[in-house]
Amino acid sequence: MCEGGPPWRVKEFRFADGQEAHEGDERRPELVVLIPEVLNSQYGMYVWPCAVVLAQYLWFHRRMLPGKRILEIGAGVSLPGIVAAKCGAEVTLSDAEELPQSLKNCQRSCELNNLLGVHIIGLTWGQISPNLLSLPQVDIILASDVFFDPEDFEDVISTVYFLMKKNPHAQFWTTYQVRSSDWSIEALLYKWKLKDIHVPLQSFNADKEQLASSLLPGRHTIEMMIISLAGASPT
Ligand SMILES: C[S@@+](CC[C@H](N)C(=O)[O-])C[C@H]1O[C@@H](n2cnc3c(N)ncnc32)[C@H](O)[C@@H]1O
Repeated sequence: MCEGGPPWRVKEFRFADGQEAHEGDERRPELVVLIPEVLNSQYGMYVWPCAVVLAQYLWFHRRMLPGKRILEIGAGVSLPGIVAAKCGAEVTLSDAEELPQSLKNCQRSCELNNLLGVHIIGLTWGQISPNLLSLPQVDIILASDVFFDPEDFEDVISTVYFLMKKNPHAQFWTTYQVRSSDWSIEALLYKWKLKDIHVPLQSFNADKEQLASSLLPGRHTIEMMIISLAGASPT
C-alpha cells in the first residue's frame, strides 16, 4: 500500500490461549492485531522477533491490563503497545523525536486497529525533554528490542530510571535478543539502582518458534526481563 509515502504492507498477528489459533475456531478467546510494515531498512519500520514475545507476555497477562497506564518506548510499529491497548490499558506510544517516520508508523498501527485513544509522543532515550517532563506517571514501561546497540544502553536505562522516580512502583517489561555474549546491562542496572527479574519464556507460553501465528520468533534467542527500582517493595 502507498499513500504518497514509502510502500507498506499489513501483517496479521493472532493471539489465543493454548495452541496456535486457527481461523474460524470460536471456542477460545482470540485477539487479532494488524501491523503495517514499511518496506524500508530503518529499524522502526517492521516488527522485530522480540516484539512478538513481549506482545505474548501482555496477552498472557491481559486480565491485569485494564486501566494500567502504559508507555512503550522505541515502539516502532508498536505491536506490544497495540496489544496492551486492545486489552484495555491506557497506552502512550513513543519513538525517537528525530524519527518522524517511526512516529507515523505508531499512528498507522493505531488507525489500522481502530484505536482512537492512544497517545503518541516523540521520546528520545537519555534526553530530559519537555515531552518526558510532561508525561504523567506510568505503571508499566514496555520496550522490545531496544538493547541492540551498547552505546544506547545507558540512555535507555536513564530514561526508565527517570520514569520510575515519578512512580517508584512502575515496572519496565522488556524483551531483548541475545546478539553477543559480551553485552550486559547488569553493571548499568547496579549503577542506576535498578534490579531485574528474568522471566522464563515457558512461563507465558512463548518458548515456541511460532507465536501469534507468526514465525518471527523462530530460533532467535530472546529473553524477557522485568526491571524495577532496587528499593521498591513488590506490588
Ligand atoms: C530494533 S527496533 C525495535 C522496534 C520495535 N520495538 C520492535 O521490537 O518491533 C528499535 C526501535 O528503537 C527506536 N530508537 C532508536 N534509537 C532511539 C532513541 N535514541 N530514542 C528512542 N527510540 C529510538 C527505533 O526508531 C526503533 O523503532
